[in-house]
Amino acid sequence: MNNNEKNQTQSEAAVSSLITRRQFLARLSIVAGGLTAALVGAPIVGFLFSPLLKKEPEVWQPLGKVDDFKIGETTHVTFSDPSPLPWAGVAADTAAWLRRTGDQEFTAFTINCSHLGCPVRWLPQAKLFMCPCHGGVYNNDGSVAAGPPPTGLARYPLRIQNGQVEIRTTPLPIEGQIIG
Ligand code: FES
Repeated sequence: MNNNEKNQTQSEAAVSSLITRRQFLARLSIVAGGLTAALVGAPIVGFLFSPLLKKEPEVWQPLGKVDDFKIGETTHVTFSDPSPLPWAGVAADTAAWLRRTGDQEFTAFTINCSHLGCPVRWLPQAKLFMCPCHGGVYNNDGSVAAGPPPTGLARYPLRIQNGQVEIRTTPLPIEGQIIG
């Protein structure tokens, strides 16, 4: 083998080595890209699908003693959201309208309008719930009186335990039920 042939063989080996290095780097960048996508994407996918996977806890929470509420009155009550978002802060508390309709009979209405979810207010003189957003009006039994709400106010299940009125927190909308 003369010098020319030797040089040619060495340069072919160098090119072959370069291609192998390029292929290796290309594969390495694909693997690195895939790992980065998995690292970035996994939390996002988890966040998007977590509401589907996580079942909302149903918890009975006390609202007060039976005698704290007068028959015929509707009272604003607050309780803790059983599954608050980590950053919820004061929004981890939620509210309802509690109406005592008899000696051992109560109804708890959701505070959110069935139209677009604005909080409704109770007007005791008019005996109506009013929604400030688009003028929705509800009767004192939660049925729609006027305006855009498509349905009445949703109700929470209630029970009386050891003289305490308890509310069962569930995802809304919910079917109401009075237990007493
Ligand atoms: S949100 Fe209550 S009427 Fe629209």
